[in-house]
Amino acid sequence: MTPKKKSKSVAKQVGASSPGGRNRRRPLIGPTAVGMDMHVHSQYSDAPKTTLDLITEVCLRRRLGVALTDHNEIRGSILLVERQKVLVLPGIEVGSKERMEFLIYFRDPEQLEDFYRKNVEPFKRQRFYAKLNRSFTMLIPAAKELGALVCLPHPFAPSYKNLNFSKKRKAALFDPGFFSMIDMIEVLNGQLADHRNFKAFMLSEVFDKNASAGSDAHRPQDIANIFLRFDRPLDRRGVFDLLLFPIKMGITQPYTFAGIAKTSRGVIPKHLQLFFSRKRQRQWMMKYDDDPVVNGRNGAKA
Ligand SMILES: [Fe+2]
Repeated sequence: MTPKKKSKSVAKQVGASSPGGRNRRRPLIGPTAVGMDMHVHSQYSDAPKTTLDLITEVCLRRRLGVALTDHNEIRGSILLVERQKVLVLPGIEVGSKERMEFLIYFRDPEQLEDFYRKNVEPFKRQRFYAKLNRSFTMLIPAAKELGALVCLPHPFAPSYKNLNFSKKRKAALFDPGFFSMIDMIEVLNGQLADHRNFKAFMLSEVFDKNASAGSDAHRPQDIANIFLRFDRPLDRRGVFDLLLFPIKMGITQPYTFAGIAKTSRGVIPKHLQLFFSRKRQRQWMMKYDDDPVVNGRNGAKA
């Protein structure tokens, strides 16, 4: 008789046994603060190992909230809100006809469901789960009509996710009327090399958009490698309302960036220092003007 195979514990599945895994058990924030990973995927889109149970387990252990943003899919997000075990911002990552992606967050799950039924479900394709048969020039205004918070994620990711991939869609995206509907830019994405995040941060500064951050986790152990930390107790609507209004980083900034993202260089800590003093900001800009990695001649790593 062959011995019965022991099933892996949840802790092991979420990375507690991996190198540095012991740290993964610790809460990342204090009891009075709120942390939100703004970009996570689950088994309902392209992260087959990330079940809702695992997300709940990680969030409870690390005292975090999460925006579950599956590609053109809302089942995971709605179910997680309904379970009421962790703080969840209802969300979706829509992929448009032009292959642009947007993170869309709603104050309440009913609004997310309404948006999905009218603007996502009828435009799904059979073969390409991440690409709808609908332009972002239709999707975003429809979301805004329902009071959504719209975030431009990974604007300098490789290939077709990069803003500069197509001149036509770039022109449509930066049309002033359209761009005013973008509320946030994801300046730290846990899956990207730091020079790509740096460019995203510069974009948020140039266009004066709120800065967001998320792990873009497709594996349970990547959840919370980057997250927003609010040093005050907030519920779901509190987080949403706060993010919806313009935030001047370093001045009226109500949150910080936190996490354990691995980067190839020390850019992320410096990235954060930018918010502290204008003098240091100038020095840093000057330094990176001649940096081959930031200027894209050497570091296409992501
Ligand atoms: Fe994503």
